[in-house]
Amino acid sequence: MSGALVVLSSVTKTYLLGQQVINALQHVDLSIDAGSALAVMGPSGSGKSTLLHVVGAMDHVNEGSIQVGEVEVTSLSRKEQVAYRRSLGFVFQRFHLLPALTALDNVVAPVLPRKTSFDKFERAHSLLAAVGLEDRLRSLPSELSGGEQQRVAIARALINHPGLLLADEPTGNLDSGTGQEILRLLLDMRAEHGLTILVATHDHQVAAECDRIVSLRDGKLEADDLWSAPRPS
Ligand SMILES: Nc1ncnc2c1ncn2[C@@H]1O[C@H](COP(=O)(O)OP(=O)(O)O)[C@@H](O)[C@H]1O
Ligand SMILES: [Mg+2]
Repeated sequence: MSGALVVLSSVTKTYLLGQQVINALQHVDLSIDAGSALAVMGPSGSGKSTLLHVVGAMDHVNEGSIQVGEVEVTSLSRKEQVAYRRSLGFVFQRFHLLPALTALDNVVAPVLPRKTSFDKFERAHSLLAAVGLEDRLRSLPSELSGGEQQRVAIARALINHPGLLLADEPTGNLDSGTGQEILRLLLDMRAEHGLTILVATHDHQVAAECDRIVSLRDGKLEADDLWSAPRPS
């Protein structure tokens, strides 16, 4: 696969907070190559999460268009939005695992109610093995470290074969060493799973692992960071 998987054109998102207009995203133009990993940096409140939310159809834009593969995200019906969201992988800062379920059941949970073309538990097992947790299948989240919980969340995000993975501060609750391991793990899984990765982070070390870095400031995209060189292999 080559070319852009994600293309944002003049995306604008405003929130109304009482009388106050908040320009969360202002005419953002951005394209993300298929198979690449892009880091979005910027201070708190600069619009990183909003960017992921609109790409993930969890929020509407006021203006502009968002193309993801064949899908024009901004013109989906509600029903189509649900199907589209299911085609994505999400990873969050707070791991959002279900506390009463084992690692294996957490990974299966998103697809449990639905028919899949693959064996759900077999795939969950192999994804947990791929993130290094083959011997923790029956562990509860409370029995796992933060890094291990995020590994479970990554396996869960991949259960439905997403082409695009959206990660919002995925290392925000981890120490820097563990955070970098988690990022490397995501990047390592990219080729095998045909993933394109969009990660919001304010951690420079995490961003430096990605292929490209862009920065948001007050909802505006700044030029690509100059030091965003290709990763040495
Ligand atoms: N649901 C919302 N309602 C009102 N304002 C919001 C909402 N979500 C985000 N904002 C505002 O939009 C701006 C961008 O927020 P956000 O995308 O969360 O930034 P970041 O993820 O970079 O910290 C901030 O000023 C924030 O307060
Ligand atoms: Mg955020």
